[in-house]
Amino acid sequence: MEATAPPPGDAGLAVSELVVNYGPVRALRGVSLRVPSGSIVAVLGANGAGKTTLLRAISGTLRFHRGAVGGGTITWAGARLSGVPAPAVVARGVTQVPEGRRVFARMTVEENLRAGALGARGGKAAARTREEVLGLFPVLAERARQRAGLLSGGEQQMLAIGRALMARPALLLLDEPTLGLAPLVAARIAETVKEINARGTSVLLIEQNVALALSLASHAYVLAVGEVVLDGPTAELAAGDEVRRRYLGVAGPPGEVPAEATARGRRTLTRWSS
Ligand SMILES: Nc1ncnc2c1ncn2[C@@H]1O[C@H](COP(=O)(O)OP(=O)(O)OP(=O)(O)O)[C@@H](O)[C@H]1O
Ligand SMILES: [Mg+2]
Repeated sequence: MEATAPPPGDAGLAVSELVVNYGPVRALRGVSLRVPSGSIVAVLGANGAGKTTLLRAISGTLRFHRGAVGGGTITWAGARLSGVPAPAVVARGVTQVPEGRRVFARMTVEENLRAGALGARGGKAAARTREEVLGLFPVLAERARQRAGLLSGGEQQMLAIGRALMARPALLLLDEPTLGLAPLVAARIAETVKEINARGTSVLLIEQNVALALSLASHAYVLAVGEVVLDGPTAELAAGDEVRRRYLGVAGPPGEVPAEATARGRRTLTRWSS
């Protein structure tokens, strides 16, 4: 997949020099990244790097975790998003699927989906969206009347994503959607992310499965201790095995190296300058 610098005035997401604090703890130290509209962008990084914090800042949910933006800006579709309360962020087309596939365990699948629809959007539009979501995840239709807590881990992740899609987001924020899932189930989730993107939704994907993230995204950022230490088109990142060792603490053989990348040898990874 070829990644190019976003055109000026791109209507996607732009995070610039973002600083986030949890009281005295500085979790993000000036993070900048972009998600051009229509793209899938991945954020990689070890535990505690600040990946979830980044999504919380974008979705306006930091305050629920006693966190606060301490500097920088977040813009979405040309307008400022920093400081916008969570429900208004959803209304503006940005929805987060939290880590840990949190579903309402005692509610049915159907009720969980309904909870994801925007309050104002009733009737036909909601019904159509529901049909689309069930088309993406047929298992949710089969389990519509079951309690969400009885679903398997993979099914709960599908429900968490499906619930987020009920708000018809233009940008979906996914926090480690394949964590703890069997490889086949993870692959199924990955296929769905591709399909959601193909239908026009931009995706900011946090993933601990490096190979999966690099295969889905066009551009990836590596976070370490609250800072972007590396970013580039995923084809180039995938070719650099030292990326895994140095920044992700992953040992073992690198993924398949694209022939074209090998031919060019090791290159300086490009940055999207702001
Ligand atoms: N509610 C909180 N209060 C205080 N510190 C927090 C809070 N949430 C996160 N942190 C700290 O902020 C830093 C970044 O955490 P964050 O959860 O964003 O990392 P992460 O990259 O998502 O990690 P993981 O891979 O474990 O999910 C860590 O040092 C973490 O301990
Ligand atoms: Mg996290």
